[in-house]
Amino acid sequence: VGELYAHDGSFLGVGTYSPVSRIAFRVFTHERRPLDEAYFKETLERTAFLREGIPSDAYRVLYSESDQTPGFIVDRYADGLVLQVRTLGAEKLKPELLKALVERFRPAFVYERSDFVGRKDEGLEPFKGLLWGELKNPVLIREHEFTFLVDVERGLKTGFYLDQRENRLYASSLVKEGSRVLDLFCYTGGFSVYCAKRGARVTGVDLNERALELARENARINGVEVEFVKANAFEYLEQDRSSYDLIIADPPAIAKARKEKESLKWAVWKLAYHAFPRLRRGGRLFICVCSYQLSADELARQVRLAATDRGRKVVLKELRLQPYDHPYLPTFPESLYLKCGDFILV
Ligand SMILES: C[S@@+](CC[C@H](N)C(=O)[O-])C[C@H]1O[C@@H](n2cnc3c(N)ncnc32)[C@H](O)[C@@H]1O
Repeated sequence: VGELYAHDGSFLGVGTYSPVSRIAFRVFTHERRPLDEAYFKETLERTAFLREGIPSDAYRVLYSESDQTPGFIVDRYADGLVLQVRTLGAEKLKPELLKALVERFRPAFVYERSDFVGRKDEGLEPFKGLLWGELKNPVLIREHEFTFLVDVERGLKTGFYLDQRENRLYASSLVKEGSRVLDLFCYTGGFSVYCAKRGARVTGVDLNERALELARENARINGVEVEFVKANAFEYLEQDRSSYDLIIADPPAIAKARKEKESLKWAVWKLAYHAFPRLRRGGRLFICVCSYQLSADELARQVRLAATDRGRKVVLKELRLQPYDHPYLPTFPESLYLKCGDFILV
């Protein structure tokens, strides 16, 4: 933790330095001030307006560089918080942030989910554990008119895909009573439950058995029926012979680094290529990529190539991004990672 100066000696900012990281210095602020509890309290106050009016008690409180807290992610789940520490510098500042979080939110718990392999690049070991209070896992959250159980101890990311909140609502607006929906990579059933509530007959597919158990529970507590299948989504789609009005495909972030970009492009093409024969006339493919590496243009291009390979055409009805509690700063292009396209087969 220290100050950054230009070669001419002029002050640039305060932040964290790491000799082993790919990014040597991460600027927190351009003001000369300590990165202490007061800094984090002010930051939480200053960025709170981006979280106002969110129709959920689960949202992202701090999103790393986008909220001037590089290396920290904080998600709120009802009356508790889940923290992720991604860099060595942030690790040093963790006690200060923790004090500020406890002071501002008076949370029932603060749980740390820093158990991802990428920490090794920063010279840190993966870690998870309770930092504050008492955790009753799974945690029950409200999102729009729905209720979801979130496994903050063992779920993916910090437990729930908070960034798809508005897209779940959007996708469900595309269906009506009796529509057939296939939710590929359904995780704990977010999209499935929303669509089923609108009267659709939904099949959700995921490889993760623990996520599917929670998905079944989530369907039950929301009073809907969904068929959840444990399968590889690519294989399932290839072998499936049903027809659908809407296919949702929200694959995992397979391209964190540039070199994996080709596999993500291929995955998008493959999903679209096998989805099109399963869609009824006017059917929709709602397909997402959650990686900075693939732009919205490239997503559209892969889907267009797959359509051409099937001798068909698609219209991109709407392009949707991450919600504003995961702020996209145009000055920091890497902060835009989630893009979903609503493609209509014509
Ligand atoms: C981005 S998440 C989906 C989030 C979900 N749409 C939601 O709103 O909660 C990706 C999911 O894909 C699953 N997954 C990864 N590879 C898979 C595969 N080959 N077949 C099926 N599911 C897979 C993971 O278990 C994870 O639940």
